[in-house]
Order: sequence, then C-alpha cells, then structure tokens
Amino acid sequence: MLNFLPEDDRQWVRQTYYKIQEKMQIQCRRIGDMIPFIPRDGRYKDLDTPTGIFWWTNGFWSGILWQMHHATGEGCYRTAAEGVEKRMDDALAGFMGLHHDVGFQWLHTAVANYRLTGNEQSKARGLHAATLLAGRYNPAGKFIRAWNKDMTGWMIIDCMMNLPILYWAGKELGDPRFAYIAESHADTVIAYGVRPDGSCNHISIMDPITGECLENPAGQGYESGSSWSRGQAWALYGFALSYLHSGERRYLDIAKRIAHYFIANLAMNDWLPPADFRAPSEPVKHDTTAAMCACCGMLEITKHVGEHEKALYFRAALNTLKACVDAFCDWDSNRDGIMGQGTSQYHGKEDQLHVPIIYGDYFFVEAILRLLEKDFLIW
Ligand code: GLY
Repeated sequence: MLNFLPEDDRQWVRQTYYKIQEKMQIQCRRIGDMIPFIPRDGRYKDLDTPTGIFWWTNGFWSGILWQMHHATGEGCYRTAAEGVEKRMDDALAGFMGLHHDVGFQWLHTAVANYRLTGNEQSKARGLHAATLLAGRYNPAGKFIRAWNKDMTGWMIIDCMMNLPILYWAGKELGDPRFAYIAESHADTVIAYGVRPDGSCNHISIMDPITGECLENPAGQGYESGSSWSRGQAWALYGFALSYLHSGERRYLDIAKRIAHYFIANLAMNDWLPPADFRAPSEPVKHDTTAAMCACCGMLEITKHVGEHEKALYFRAALNTLKACVDAFCDWDSNRDGIMGQGTSQYHGKEDQLHVPIIYGDYFFVEAILRLLEKDFLIW
C-alpha cells in the first residue's frame, strides 16, 4: 500500500509504527490480560466498564494484541490475548448482558485466535457468538435488533460492524443462513439508516411485528437528523466489509457514498473529526475513534476501486491519520492509551469526552498496519 505514497509519507508511516511498537510492548507487559476501556489518571483499570464483562468494547485490547502479534511475531501479545479470550467465557456463559455487539467482542478475541492459530476451542466460541447474533434477527422488519429490554424494534448503525462474524460463521459452517441474515440486515440499513446524501441515522425504530420503520430518534450524536461521526464511520467501514464478504456491488457503492460525505466533512475541519458533523461549532467536541475507524474503511475501499480512484481514499486516510497523530497522540509510555480525544457520545459524561478509548487505539493500530501491509483481517 505504501507504494502509493510519496517518500516522506512512507517515512512517517514507518516511524509511527516504530512508536506504536515501543509503547505497545510496554503496555502489553503492564496490562497483560486485563480488559481495558478508558484510562483514568493515565492508567487502565481492569473491567472498569459500565456493564463489566458484558461491555461491548471488551474485545478491542485483544484485537490490538493479535494485530501486534501478527505484525511482530512477539509472544507477549499472544499470551495476553489468550488470557482475555478465556476471561470472556464468563460473558458467553452469563448471556443476559449480551446483545448485538457480540461481533465486536468475539471477532477480536476468539475468531482472531482461530484465524491465526487454528485453535478449535476459539472457533467454537466464535460460532457460539455468531449464533447468538443470528438469533436476534427479526424476519418481519429484516433487521438485527439492538440492545435488550423493551427495545424490541431498535436497529442501530453500529451493528454494521458486527455483521462480519456472521459472514465468517457462514463460511466456516457452509451454512448460507448467516450471510442471508447479514445481507438482509445491511439492505434494511440502506433503506432506513443511510440518507441520500451519505449521512446516516444512528437509530431506526421499527415496529417489531409489522416491520414498518416508525422513527429515527437521536442517539449518540447531537440530535435527531444530525450526523454522529462514529455512526458514519461504523457505516462506512461496515458496508466496505459487507462488500468484501458478499461481493455485492451495492455495498461498495454505499460505502463510497458515505466515505465521500465523511471526507468532505473532515476536509472542512482540518482533518480533525468532530464528534458530530452537524452540531454547533461551539463547544468543540472531537472524536478520534470515528476518524480512526473511517480511515480503516477508506483503506479497505482502496482495495476494491480502480487505479485512478484509489488516491482519494489513500490521501484522505493519510491526512486524517497525520492530523490526529500530530494533534492528539500521547507517546509517553508511563501513561496508557495512545490516541487521545476520543468521545463516547456527544452528550455523554465528561469523563468520556476527549479521552483515549481502547477502540480508538485499535483502529489507529489497524490503519497503520494496513498501510504497511502488516495487518490481518480481523473483521
Ligand atoms: N457501539 C457503541 C458506540 O459506538 O458507542
């Protein structure tokens, strides 16, 4: 991938990778098989999450570990990742706190392990998680329901990133039902989640009996009708991945439409991502996690477009990575977390605003490894 870039950009990517390696080695020794989310006073605490072992981000540290193990061959990363995966068995067994995010949780732990080592127990965990996700499909509305409790008709844009565990399970089992559910959900998102201009709703509430779309309320963005940047990123990368796994051209076209909208908004903001593209200019709220995820999606798109089309996505990804690294990265190895200025939701708690968040680091690492062709497909 680096061949597309001028020499000074190539140097920058290599140097950034060396810095990641240096800090991740130290973090790996310090964190081991803890399950980190957001560092407090510069240090991650184990399972310091709103729902403990069930929390949706619990796989991302393991995702970083497997990517680093794959890129460097170092054993420390693998040992720690295997530890995280075993600890997460309590969530699979506990069940009640699980929802649509089982893809995030087990793609980065069990499925990553199985893909790299062939571990059969990991394969079983991944298939277990995929089966739980498939069980959330509502045939009336053709969507995978989000969350639990009384939200029976809720569909959210985030779920696009969980579909890869269905594509994977379908291929492993030779069972077309999994891809059917994934594609059927993706098509419903095209109908109700993606707007004609390439922006996206976070939430669509469907009638769970008739399947009719009832409303698109505000979610983690500024307001209903606004444009929560991480939601845009989930859709951008999620549709690119649905294209990768299904070969259905409409998913690539949608991914590109969302990417063009995303790129236009980043360019308007010096390549530093607002937490919502349609929020007041003050107070300034950034969310680097959205930008890092979108960069991975843009780099995936470069693999599926013609020679003369790639530059747009490469350049946008690189501009974004460079701007965010220059402005927000913390390379001090005494403090946990690298990519700063992540924001969990626009109106969220102060302690989840402008902080390093584990998934921001995951997508940052994946993007840099993608540029160096040292990544492996975790999705
Ligand atoms: N999937 C939940 C979030 O993006 O915050």
